[in-house]
Amino acid sequence: MIDFRSDTVTKPTPAMRRAMAEAEVGDDVYGEDPTVNRLQERAARIFEKEAALFVPTGSMGNQIAVKLHTRPGEEVVIEERGHIYNYEMAAMSAISGALARPVRGGGGTGLLTWGEIKAAVHAGDAPYYVARTGLVALENSHNLAGGSVLTRERTEEICDGAHALGLRVHLDGARIFNAAESLGETVAALARPADSVMFCLSKGLGAPVGSVLLGARGFIDEARRWRKLLGGGMRQAGVLAAAGLVALEETPPRLGDDHANARRLAEGLAGLPGVKIDPESVRTNIVIFDVSEARLPADEICARVRETRGVLCSGFGSLIRMVTHYDVSREDVDVALAALGEVLKES
Ligand SMILES: Cc1ncc(COP(=O)(O)O)c(C=O)c1O
Repeated sequence: MIDFRSDTVTKPTPAMRRAMAEAEVGDDVYGEDPTVNRLQERAARIFEKEAALFVPTGSMGNQIAVKLHTRPGEEVVIEERGHIYNYEMAAMSAISGALARPVRGGGGTGLLTWGEIKAAVHAGDAPYYVARTGLVALENSHNLAGGSVLTRERTEEICDGAHALGLRVHLDGARIFNAAESLGETVAALARPADSVMFCLSKGLGAPVGSVLLGARGFIDEARRWRKLLGGGMRQAGVLAAAGLVALEETPPRLGDDHANARRLAEGLAGLPGVKIDPESVRTNIVIFDVSEARLPADEICARVRETRGVLCSGFGSLIRMVTHYDVSREDVDVALAALGEVLKES
């Protein structure tokens, strides 16, 4: 099987497995796991934030941030395809009593402007009977918008605007290392103006488990309390953090290969019948293409390429999503293109 469904499907590398086997561990609920502590310190240094917290999942990191930045009854302004809004089980309402204020904009790119966000904000001058905005949530790269990237300048403009209105900004940086590679920026520069940032070790970086939430020291102290409350206080978690440390050092320099493979895939797809995609829009490792003009629905196309060539991709509605990562090679991209070509030509 060649698995393009997500970059979450990567298996730990031999170096990660070795590091896991040899990890020095302790009880992290007591703050005594040296490997978790090392990961948190290393992440804080890379992101130039005061402190960091290892969390089991990106969703937990995001939701702790929403909890700490909002009060019940407040709104979270977010792009309408944002992960925090669409794929985290309405946790912002269940955990924080907050309401999403989804914003359509960015001309389909998922990249909102400050103007679009501002129009959705209810700040001090709003009538008393509307819910106040508590938080602006950004996502970089933007998963459902095809891995599009928010530039440093745009992030700064949005954060400056939000801060001027007394609002905090959380950055869902599940794939911020991909964004940084694509933009030629550091992750620290992309995250600098945000009040908090979460990044995933378990996506393109390839670790089996884990994410990291970063921010000011007081924020992270509170986040640790909420991680425990949500059931995320892990004990000898150093076996997981050890793989995360390897991922953090070894994977970022090779993300460009995944992006080149995604672009190659997109360029090949653009020449297939019934496919709509602008290869130029593919900036990172996510390729989303429209098959509404093909004779077969997306689900059926995915089922057939799986059957014929063992190629896995995800169909939703009239769209198909394929994601590159270190377990798919350039040759695998060519196999996928051949498989899709056969199915689309017969359809
Ligand atoms: C943009 C984004 N944020 C957050 C998450 C949540 O990560 P997890 O699956 O570790 O909860 C994902 C997962 O796919 C994601 O794509």
